[in-house]
Amino acid sequence: MRYSYRISGWVTLNSRNKTMKTSFIVAALGSALLILLASCSAKKQESSTMEKISFGRTTEGTEVNLYTLHNKNGMEARITNYGGIVVSLLVPDRDGKLADVVLGFDSLASYVKNSPYFGALVGRYGNRIGKGTFELNGTKFKLAINNGANHLHGGLKGFDKVVWSVDEQQSKPGKLLVLTYLSKDGEEGYPGNLSAKVVYSVTDSNELKIEYTATTDKPTVVNLTHHSYFNLAGAGNGNVLDHELFIDAERFTPVDSGLIPTGELKSVKGTPMDFTAATAIGARINDAYDQLKNGGGYDHNWVLNKAANSFGLAARVYEKTSGRVMEVLTTEPGVQFYSGNFLDGTLTGKGGKQYGHRFGFCLETQHFPDSPNKPQFPPTTLNPGQTLTSTTVYRFSAK
Ligand code: GLA
Repeated sequence: MRYSYRISGWVTLNSRNKTMKTSFIVAALGSALLILLASCSAKKQESSTMEKISFGRTTEGTEVNLYTLHNKNGMEARITNYGGIVVSLLVPDRDGKLADVVLGFDSLASYVKNSPYFGALVGRYGNRIGKGTFELNGTKFKLAINNGANHLHGGLKGFDKVVWSVDEQQSKPGKLLVLTYLSKDGEEGYPGNLSAKVVYSVTDSNELKIEYTATTDKPTVVNLTHHSYFNLAGAGNGNVLDHELFIDAERFTPVDSGLIPTGELKSVKGTPMDFTAATAIGARINDAYDQLKNGGGYDHNWVLNKAANSFGLAARVYEKTSGRVMEVLTTEPGVQFYSGNFLDGTLTGKGGKQYGHRFGFCLETQHFPDSPNKPQFPPTTLNPGQTLTSTTVYRFSAK
């Protein structure tokens, strides 16, 4: 009995094994299929489920959204496709506490009404073009005049005031936002249909990364930048005069009283423009120096030391109460350091906070202002068949 039991037991077991094997295979195939189907639908969902909420409608009635990007450390950027504006940017301090370090508004209406380029993408040409004119291949172009006698930040309706399309196929929900904009031939006076693409991402190294590309169908001039106003102690928490700034540049481009470069590359040595050793923004801002008078403070382009077109450090800022550090890395040859001189307390920002004089600073990576009229500056001409590429990273840490 025992033997037969064993045998039958073995046989039973064996056949049960077979049944088990078969059912295991069926189950395995089944679950594999399920997993495959699930992952397909998850992928499908992923590519169509951007983390977004409505941010309201423009005056023309176009609905725009607010997209959220974040990383594993809790850093979070909220970006709207109106002007490609970074509306908020949460980064940790030395204790890991998050604060919003960019100035901005709670509502789309405020951005539309009177934003001084808070957080915006700037184009077709970042900063000024003298008298709004330039010549390209023998043809003279006349641009919109919107800053005294000059053209500033792309004109009356620059890239900061248009609705960008979101490419949801190329975007990665929560990680990467792909914005595109077609600037029509003649817009604000510029020649050529310009297809611009900007990819925003938040990396696990606490970086806000901005990658720009552009192509054109006629020769044109392009200079794309980003205009966040930073306050590393948190937006609305006082002015930025105690922030310590390092700029990796031995030279800057002096300007006239209309903030148009004279064309000279001037050494920073012995002037309040020297940030080659980290110095508080406010340490020399009121010095009797003609360039500071022209700018009402710092509002100048620095000529970066790094090799042209190479990706490298432009600037580093440290705020000692929070310990936050921001490094700016770029492929661009210059950076406009603007110390928020036009902020005067009349703007009420996020959470009802008043933005007083110099409550934020900008580090706008760029080609030099007025390059279309300054043949000695790195060129900003884009021709058909060429692709403009440019990358800037704002990298955060704390010490
Ligand atoms: C740039 C300019 C400044 C000012 C700001 C926006 O930084 O250089 O003069 O126009 O943008 O207010």
